[in-house]
Amino acid sequence: MLKKIIMVMVLTVTYFHGNAQNATVPVYLDESKTVEQRIEDALSKMTLEEKVAMLHAQSKFSSPGVPRLGIPEFWATDGPHGVRPEVLWDEWDQAGWTNDSIVAYPALTALAATWNKKMSWNYGKALGEEARYRKKDILLGPGVNIYRTPLNGRNFEYMGEDPFLASKMVVPYIKGVQSNGVATSVKHFALNNQEMFRHTSNVIVDDRALYEIYLPAFKAAVTEGDSWTIMGAYDLYKNQFASQNQYLLNDILKGEWGYKGVVVSDWGAVTSTEQAIFNGLDMEFGSWTNGLSEGTSNAYDNYYLAYPYLKLIKSGKVGTKELDDKVRRILRLAFNTTMNRNKPFGSIASAEHKAVAKQVGEEGIVLLQNQKNTLPIDINKTKTIAVIGENAIKMMTVGGGSSSLKVKHETLPLEGIKARFGDKADVQYARGYVGDVTGDYNGVKTGQDLKDSRSEAELINEAVALAKKSDFVIFVGGLNKSDFQDSEGNDRKNMDLPYNQDKVISALAKANKNLAVVLITGNAVSMPWVKEVPAILQGWYLGSEAGNSLASILAGDANPSGKLPFTFPVKLEDNSAHQLGEYPGNKEELAAGKGKDQKNIINIRYNEGVFVGYRWHDTKNIKPQFSFGHGLSYTSFEFGKAKADRTSMGQNDQISFTVSVKNTGKKAGAEVAQLYIRDVKSSVERPAKELKGFEKVFLNPGEQKEVTFTIDKTALSYFDAQKHDWVAEPGEFEALIGNSSDAIKTKVTFTLN
Ligand code: BGC
Repeated sequence: MLKKIIMVMVLTVTYFHGNAQNATVPVYLDESKTVEQRIEDALSKMTLEEKVAMLHAQSKFSSPGVPRLGIPEFWATDGPHGVRPEVLWDEWDQAGWTNDSIVAYPALTALAATWNKKMSWNYGKALGEEARYRKKDILLGPGVNIYRTPLNGRNFEYMGEDPFLASKMVVPYIKGVQSNGVATSVKHFALNNQEMFRHTSNVIVDDRALYEIYLPAFKAAVTEGDSWTIMGAYDLYKNQFASQNQYLLNDILKGEWGYKGVVVSDWGAVTSTEQAIFNGLDMEFGSWTNGLSEGTSNAYDNYYLAYPYLKLIKSGKVGTKELDDKVRRILRLAFNTTMNRNKPFGSIASAEHKAVAKQVGEEGIVLLQNQKNTLPIDINKTKTIAVIGENAIKMMTVGGGSSSLKVKHETLPLEGIKARFGDKADVQYARGYVGDVTGDYNGVKTGQDLKDSRSEAELINEAVALAKKSDFVIFVGGLNKSDFQDSEGNDRKNMDLPYNQDKVISALAKANKNLAVVLITGNAVSMPWVKEVPAILQGWYLGSEAGNSLASILAGDANPSGKLPFTFPVKLEDNSAHQLGEYPGNKEELAAGKGKDQKNIINIRYNEGVFVGYRWHDTKNIKPQFSFGHGLSYTSFEFGKAKADRTSMGQNDQISFTVSVKNTGKKAGAEVAQLYIRDVKSSVERPAKELKGFEKVFLNPGEQKEVTFTIDKTALSYFDAQKHDWVAEPGEFEALIGNSSDAIKTKVTFTLN
């Protein structure tokens, strides 16, 4: 016994006294060794049971490490816009901690609308710092599922309709988060483009659309962003659930893209031990919703990748090759996160974080329309301001599904407007309509009582009366985070504004010509009143600083520079998924009751192929309400004539286009120069144009800057399904440069040899 104690003491001493006795530090803890050496060493020391334990959850959001070896547990958390409140061990409900309030950042649609990669890095860095402070190792986001239909309830969590924009914006976010030693989990891989039937639908999409539209942002996230984890989706592809899918996970992700990170399942997305073992999944989460209902003592032991897997190995029915591969990946994750000794400590709800949230909000807000320079509000001529609409007073950080947050403070639009204008103008409020009055989500309470029993007529009359006697009217409406709006689990039922808002807006437009409509949504809405209203702002969900970002744009303190990351069609039928494709699923199958459970899977055919968003509108000349890339400013810009550095290029060459952008107005501002490529003649049908470059340029009045875009043949290629490769066909191409997909200002023609 004494001998044993002495030995332990010697070991402890040698271990804690570092370098001199380095030989006694096990290889897996030795930071002078390569990560791969450390992985192999740890793996060699682990028992079979310890390995299997690492593959599945031990609570709603955590998984075990290897306690015996000092390898810590992993703690995951939602989500893309802020760090979710602590939940109970086995439940979705918040745990009621009082030290887990955070800063909510603008929704990813708003981030994408900044078209500013730097903003994305700042966002990721700040969010990662909060995750780190909250001791999280895996942040469940960002989401990059492509915007296929305006009805998808989760579009607000994603980065729009264009694969190039989403690819460029997602990478800095990942790097920013991971600079904190916190892994991102880019989600939901793949083809989860609607919420309706998300657990019970099989997507049928051709390879060309898959590779050109639905995969690029994920590919960028793992190959350029090096996201340490990726989350599988719920839906099926080729009749296999995406989180255990041979084609998506083994063939494409780990095969073609050489991914070395960890595939985590979406919560409850695993359905089969065999497929989970062999089809590329590494970590299983959320299989039983309350963690208690399956199995006798511990539901987590009954996960598909728990005892059932162990039993198969022990009985000799399956080997350990897949197991070791999964564990290697998880250890790699550990060395980057939990066992990374160089990570910072993080910080939470700081003034710096609020500033990031505010700035992303300001840069993401899109000025859709501004007749007669209605905006910014001229504070010297404005004595009275009427603010109307529920979204001016409703907290939007609570609700909407897994992205729901618990903020330290959320500045509401009315609050922000009062703070900015209140000392010069009399700001008064009228409700206008009553929508969602709930104020509780997973146990997080807004503390707001929004109940109002007045009739529609009473509400409108009050609003109109206030509008009539005011100098300026700001209507703040749109959607919210309740079911069937911008919310996880369901889709919207149509593209219209709910709760009678169209009528309220029209009535306000008649009452006062100085009207700005602010839409708080993550989706396009129909606007039957578009010609009646002089100014329209797309205000997104802006998080903790919503009211301040908005007020700063309304006042002109910040000059709008956001651009739409997706098309606003005039009507739903103009959208290609609704015109050509299937939504929410195949009609006959729908009529036959398919999609109702996992034994009755419904098919969704993406017949529109690559013609998604502006690729469809611009090719078929279907005029949208507001086009992809659109966004106005309080100043004006002029594009010079674009020049190319050569007139023709070979397959291995690069070509550069240069264009000048000048601020011709009186206010400092930013314009986004957008490069689209058009293949003039092609053997396959191609979109009229595709985004292949963009740059946000900040300019003082009178200032001019040159923007240069350099591309190679990847920007000219389409995906040839037959060859299973990208092909750039020789011939003529056009480089189209402008400030929206439907506002091309200058073009250059060149040939590919
Ligand atoms: C969502 C994911 C989320 C997970 C954990 C799932 O239902 O689809 O996006 O990260 O729950 O909350």
